[in-house]
Amino acid sequence: MSNAMWGGRFTSSPDSIMEEINASIGFDQRLAAQDIAGSKAHAAMLAQRGIVSAADVAAIQAGLDRIAGEIEAGTFTFSRALEDIHMNVESRLAEIIGDAAGRLHTARSRNDQVALDFRLWVRDTLDAVDAALHDLQLALSEKALAHADSVMPGFTHLQSAQPVTLGHHLMAYVEMIARDRGRFSDARRRMNESPLGAAALAGTSYPIDRHAVAQALGFDRPTANSLDSVSDRDFALEALSAAAICAVHLSRFAEEIVLWATPQFGFASLSDRFSTGSSIMPQKRNPDAAELVRGKSGRVIGDLIGLLVVMKGLPLAYSKDMQEDKEGTFDALDALALTIPAMAGMVRDLSPDLERMKAAAGSGFSTATDLADWLVQKLDMPFRQAHHVTGRIVALAAEAGTTLEALPLAAMQGVEPRITAAVFDVLGADRSVASRTSFGGTAPANVRAQAEAWLAKLG
Ligand code: ARG
Repeated sequence: MSNAMWGGRFTSSPDSIMEEINASIGFDQRLAAQDIAGSKAHAAMLAQRGIVSAADVAAIQAGLDRIAGEIEAGTFTFSRALEDIHMNVESRLAEIIGDAAGRLHTARSRNDQVALDFRLWVRDTLDAVDAALHDLQLALSEKALAHADSVMPGFTHLQSAQPVTLGHHLMAYVEMIARDRGRFSDARRRMNESPLGAAALAGTSYPIDRHAVAQALGFDRPTANSLDSVSDRDFALEALSAAAICAVHLSRFAEEIVLWATPQFGFASLSDRFSTGSSIMPQKRNPDAAELVRGKSGRVIGDLIGLLVVMKGLPLAYSKDMQEDKEGTFDALDALALTIPAMAGMVRDLSPDLERMKAAAGSGFSTATDLADWLVQKLDMPFRQAHHVTGRIVALAAEAGTTLEALPLAAMQGVEPRITAAVFDVLGADRSVASRTSFGGTAPANVRAQAEAWLAKLG
């Protein structure tokens, strides 16, 4: 038996491998709610414009509602022979309401239908991503406020650089996530145009009202060009680009959590809720959630590249290659749906070891810059010379196996006789951090103000 939806010019049914390669129902059934919403808006417009009778449209609407209920209840049987969600729904509609079902597809093609359904899905999902990122920013800002003056080492090249505060470090991610949210919301704004009514590629001769359908589905306007409407997937590519950048941010933080939680760093421990044990080594507390956040970023990046490559050689308008747009997009946004709340949970439960962080902050000669700045400010030394003098003092301390703070004044004076005991004021990590009062710097008062401003903004 040939396909009931398009089989008019066919005499035999597809090869089983053809059916298998062609079918998207295994994954596009996730578009069911969007497909039904789109069909209902389309049908309402068809009635309004007198293209289909009010009675037929009423039957169509009731049938679609019933199908939505069946899908929600899990009683709907999806058929691979019916290829995709669009034809599964329409075929079931025919079973329920009979011939009137055949009028729903007037002035529509699966090409604009799938472009619509997928856009609606991405749009709905970006709204959920935004809410999750908002919550992660809250978790970070709350923790940052609690640790506005908890001193820890700041690194460059993963070598001790200058002391910072844990609050400052966490607020760095609040800023990154703010930009991620901005990228998602830019993408959402650009994608919020309805492709429905582009039909197969050229538009339609029926007197449809694309503006009314666009409005009913919460779009700002209909898309302007019918070929573009059914051909482009840049709305998904933009969402994936923003997702990939966001995933990279989460991955970098996850990597830091993995490091901090090692016994060797010992800066923080994860709660039992976000750790796992080993089946052989009883002492282990593994940061699996953080590792998976880091690992899933690889998939998200791959999903972006995958769709870019699918699209790059396609002539206008629709080609079946474009059916490959969905799984990667689902995969990437599913990954974010797990990784963002996992990060928020880890942040809320993270217990920093303040003693250890503070001790580490003072090691590695991390206040050498403060010493150089003291030479500049108190002795009016040019910074380059101060840098050199400090380097020699650091070398002495390293040789003596001690810290800058513990190095005797006489040793420092051996390098620069004008140094006085007042220098010790700036050699502690706490003092160093407190002195970084420049705009955006790590001084606890700055960090507290930043965290409070964010908390007020986040509500
Ligand atoms: N399942 C298809 C997809 O996901 C729907 C569009 C099919 N259009 C067509 N002309 N075969 O892209």
